[in-house]
Parts: sequence; C-alpha cells; structure tokens
Amino acid sequence: MSKSINRRDFLKRGSALVAAGSLPLSLIEVAFGVSSAQNFTFAYISDSHITHIKGNRFVRNWDRGLIRAVAEANLLDPKPDFVFYGGDIAQLGKPEEIDHGLELLSGLSGKVHYVMGEHDYYADLGDYWKQRLGPDYYSFDHKGVHFVVLNSILTHEEWMHGKWDTGMDRMKQMARLDNPDGQPFMVGAAQRAWLKQDLDKIARDTPVVVFSHSPLQKIHKGWNFWTDDAEEVQALLKPFSKVTVLYGHVHQIQYNQIGNISFNSAMATAWPWPYPSTYSQVKTYLPKLTVEMNRADPFFERDATGWQFINMHTGNVDVSYVLPDNRNRVVAFDTSAGKPLDTQYQAESKRIPPQTHY
Ligand SMILES: [Fe+2]
Ligand SMILES: [Fe+2]
Repeated sequence: MSKSINRRDFLKRGSALVAAGSLPLSLIEVAFGVSSAQNFTFAYISDSHITHIKGNRFVRNWDRGLIRAVAEANLLDPKPDFVFYGGDIAQLGKPEEIDHGLELLSGLSGKVHYVMGEHDYYADLGDYWKQRLGPDYYSFDHKGVHFVVLNSILTHEEWMHGKWDTGMDRMKQMARLDNPDGQPFMVGAAQRAWLKQDLDKIARDTPVVVFSHSPLQKIHKGWNFWTDDAEEVQALLKPFSKVTVLYGHVHQIQYNQIGNISFNSAMATAWPWPYPSTYSQVKTYLPKLTVEMNRADPFFERDATGWQFINMHTGNVDVSYVLPDNRNRVVAFDTSAGKPLDTQYQAESKRIPPQTHY
C-alpha cells in the first residue's frame, strides 16, 4: 500500500462523501425506480495501453498500473458485482498486447465487461479483440439498471477501409494527438439504429448507464476528446430520467451534466493526459462542471493514474477515483443540484496546490 491509501479508510471516507451519505456504504439500501433496483457497486478499470517491446517483454510501468488496479479491485468490500474495462487494453492493437493485457486482467474475480478503444481497434479493425472478447456493442440488465456498451471509436468508412499498406500504418495515424490527418470518432448510424431499438423496450424511469470509450460529448476535437455524432446519441437517451455515460480515453477526471445525462470519465492505469485547457489555454475545452485533478508529479510513476469504484445506490452514478500516489476523489451525483459534483474539490481551499519541486 502506498503512503496515501488505506483501503478501508478510503471506503469510509468515500461513502461519507457520497450524496447524503453519513451512512456506511454497506447500510445504504435505497430502492429506486419502479423496477425496485437494488443497491450495488462495480469497479471500473481503463486505458492500460499494454505495450509490446519484443519477445515476451512489455513496458513495465504500464503493466504495473494494471496489476495494481486488478489487485485493488479484488480487495474491495463490498465486493463489486462486476468490473468494467473502459478500452485501450493495447497500445498498438497487437495480439501480443491484447493477450498480455487479458492475462493480467484474468486475475480479476467475477465478470468483466469490455469496451473497445481506438488502440484496440485500428490495427485490424477490431478482429482480434472481438475474437477474444465477443461483440463490441450490446446491452444487459442488472438489478434494475439497463447497461449499454457502445463502440464509439469508429470513423468514416472510407478512411477505415481506405488504402493502407498495413493495418499498423492506420493504427499509428489514429494513435497520434493533434494529427492533421486524424479522423473524428463516431458511434455511427448502424449502432445508433440498434440503440434506438434497444432503448424502445425500456421503461423511461429505468436507470440507464452507457459505456463508451470516447466521451459522448464534444470536448476537444484535436485529441479526439470528442464523438462526432454525440448529439444524435444524446437525443436517443433524452427520454430517460436517470442516464449516465461513463467513458475512458481521456486519462483524467472529468464530469459534466448535459440535460438529463450525467457524464463521468475514468482515469487510466497507464499515464495521465494533461487537460486540454492547459495546452490550448482555452477554458471551454473542459466539461463545464469539471474541477481539474492535480497534475502528475514526475517523481511518482503512478501519480494521476488510477481506477474507479462505482456506487449505484440511487440509480445515478457515484464515482470514487482511487489514485495510488495522490488524493482520492469522489464525484457523486447530487440529487438536489441534479448534477455530479466533487464534494471535496468544489471548494478552492480543499484542492491540492500544484507541485513546486520540479
Ligand atoms: Fe487511452
Ligand atoms: Fe483511447
């Protein structure tokens, strides 16, 4: 355990911060919706970017981040009902990387659901990932909540299926930030039609949680913190009273509320991206509610990386962000405000000041 984490203390602190929660997490048994959903939790791990060097060698730091998250998820009490993996298992979509990542993830007890990331996809258009993990979009119901998994990292057909010497050439184009030849991510018409059909069967007061890799909102196009058909997907989710979108890809804490939809990002286990605002000097490149996480300290290799523990006791999502070398955060849905709030970081005086010892 690092200096900053004691798991039991974290859960105590986390549950105290959640909503009105002065109750311990295990005692919160609030039913929600007509479907009488039960209280439950799940864990969320994302963006491990397992990187093959050669032979059986992989980049050590990225391996360590995933190994740590798997170990922590297995120790959780209460035990999560399942684990979600938010995409980008691999760095360049190689079978060796996907295999190695899944081997490390096989240490998790219980069911794991997977989302496709662009780093898993663009080398072979997802063939190997699908061979190992099955369909890249589907839905399921769990204890009164409707969960939807989308593949949000598709792009224009003519680019995906264009003239490439190798799939790796295409992968390397898509892996770059600020690539003028890059392409925007999208869910695409076929999945949107499927989603419409899927949601037509669901009562409007059923809590809905959607998993995507890219944000289903438009944040910063140059880095593909972006989904080109976000508004069309949001429109399909509009009739529901409790909707949350959970996404990976951005490697940082973000949260937002657009109409009826709450948005929560996941941190990476590999490395943190900077906030677009620090790069572009344009504040509007952040989701409006987000209070930035403290920036990474280069003297701590796990700083500003981590994984998530999610509590579904209200039908909305409360996300506990676990940072091995930094202060944990809890972004909980505030029912009176009608949006997710970071109860601790909201006050300026409670934020961590930037490091000064570089
Ligand atoms: Fe990623
Ligand atoms: Fe990604």
